[in-house]
Amino acid sequence: MKIAVINGPNLNLVGIREPEIYGNIPLNRYLEQLAAARTDAEISLFQSNHEGDIIDEIQRVGFSADGIVLNAGAYTHTSIAIADAIRAVTAPVVEVHISDVQSREPFRRISMIKDACVAVIAGHGLKSYDLAIDYLIQTQP
Ligand code: DQA
Repeated sequence: MKIAVINGPNLNLVGIREPEIYGNIPLNRYLEQLAAARTDAEISLFQSNHEGDIIDEIQRVGFSADGIVLNAGAYTHTSIAIADAIRAVTAPVVEVHISDVQSREPFRRISMIKDACVAVIAGHGLKSYDLAIDYLIQTQP
């Protein structure tokens, strides 16, 4: 099973950025280890701080991957263009967040992309990514 993990803006700084919220483990290192350790999926990793690059990657992998794990960062709360990209492709997309966005500032409770996604997994720290991969494997048709 091919799973593409796509991370949006500022997620390259997880490990340094606001450690009281996101922890102090570098996300890229965590995901590289996760991709190497999981034998039940072939996992690709992508990160960009640019909305259009995230859309390009969704389009690039979205017809060949069996699932996409997407942490769109702050674009979650603003981007109709990313929601449209998710709807445009065939791969199911799981919206992921490290933090519990529902218990933070009111603007983080709004997701422009959630209705285009098959599930939302948030608030489990970096384990949110493992849970999203588990979900895609368990719900694979
Ligand atoms: C985040 C939550 C977003 O609100 C925030 O803008 C991020 C990270 C998370 O993983 O908890 O950049 O997506």
